[in-house]
Amino acid sequence: MYHRPMLVLGIETSCDETAAAVVTDDRRIRASLVHSQLEQHAPFGGVVPEIAARAHLAVLNGLIRRAMDQAGIGFAALSGIAATGGPGLIGGVMVGTMAAKGLAAATGAPFVAVNHLEGHALTARLTDDLPFPYLLLLVSGGHCQLLAVHGVGRYWRYGSTVDDAAGEAFDKAAKLLGLGYPGGPAIEEAAKTGDPARFDLPRPMVGRAGADFSFSGLKTAVKRLVDDLPPGPLRARDVADVAASFQAAVADCLADRTARAMTRFRGEHADAAHLVVAGGVAANAAVRQSLAALATRECFGFTAPPLALCGDNAAMIAWAGIERLKLGLTDGLDFAPRPRWPLDPDAAPA
Ligand code: KG4
Ligand code: ZN
Repeated sequence: MYHRPMLVLGIETSCDETAAAVVTDDRRIRASLVHSQLEQHAPFGGVVPEIAARAHLAVLNGLIRRAMDQAGIGFAALSGIAATGGPGLIGGVMVGTMAAKGLAAATGAPFVAVNHLEGHALTARLTDDLPFPYLLLLVSGGHCQLLAVHGVGRYWRYGSTVDDAAGEAFDKAAKLLGLGYPGGPAIEEAAKTGDPARFDLPRPMVGRAGADFSFSGLKTAVKRLVDDLPPGPLRARDVADVAASFQAAVADCLADRTARAMTRFRGEHADAAHLVVAGGVAANAAVRQSLAALATRECFGFTAPPLALCGDNAAMIAWAGIERLKLGLTDGLDFAPRPRWPLDPDAAPA
């Protein structure tokens, strides 16, 4: 029997990237456009929520139009419209969900409010058709967690950061080194020529029971290092060595905490042993390498998304929408955006 693929439009506006994508249920990305607001936020050294909301509003409609054109379809062909419903900056999330609701009302296609973190969490199923369950390390600018992923909407948290997220640590360290925002790619670039063994930075939480993370002590140690460097402009060699030492410390912390979570996951899932890394920090080659080596040592499979799908994008939102639509999970047009929205049901209500 001929099966018409499901075609879903995805919209992402929760932070500083405006994104629109069209994805099919046979896992083809027909269009995936990301418009970065980097230039607007750069002078402030971080994301300014009010600027972000206005910038989303200015470009979203045009971006959706272009994604639809690139996919070569009209709105009537859509099986659903998925938009990030949170967590994130509320102004941006409102812009994205309002656009999606308007299109849903006009076309009659169902609306799906997607948890941004679920978008990251399910990306490995879009790219690699990965079966549940798997262990997920979610490392982005706002989140750092280890979760057992049992199914759509079914997550068990093993641990999370007690202070900064991993991406936030990269951003703060980069600022201390005068490398600008966003810090992750800048640190990775500077670290390429640096010596990761020159500075002995702390590895917070390493060796401790459980799977929680902490990065604020590492940031303070970087600050102390930078303060102790010779006065005047930082030398390129010092910046490279601090960046490399910092990156190595983060990679060690992530691998140690993930190793703990693997032991627990193996105890709870006799037949499954697969690790997935997702989120912006998953783009970092040193982090990927250390997790891949860990997975090999522990006899776990390992999946890291292609670079274009590590950072925020709308293909992951469209795909999470497809997974939800297949289960009959849709949302009403009265859905209220959620600035906080934990993935796991046991998390403190927010
Ligand atoms: O997932 P994402 O795009 O947005 C959030 O949902 O937070 O992650 C952005 C974070 C930023 O903190 C950025 O510095 C970090 O991911 N990041 C990286 C790299 N690329 C982005 N961190 C380390 N190395 C990278 N190559
Ligand atoms: Zn994200």
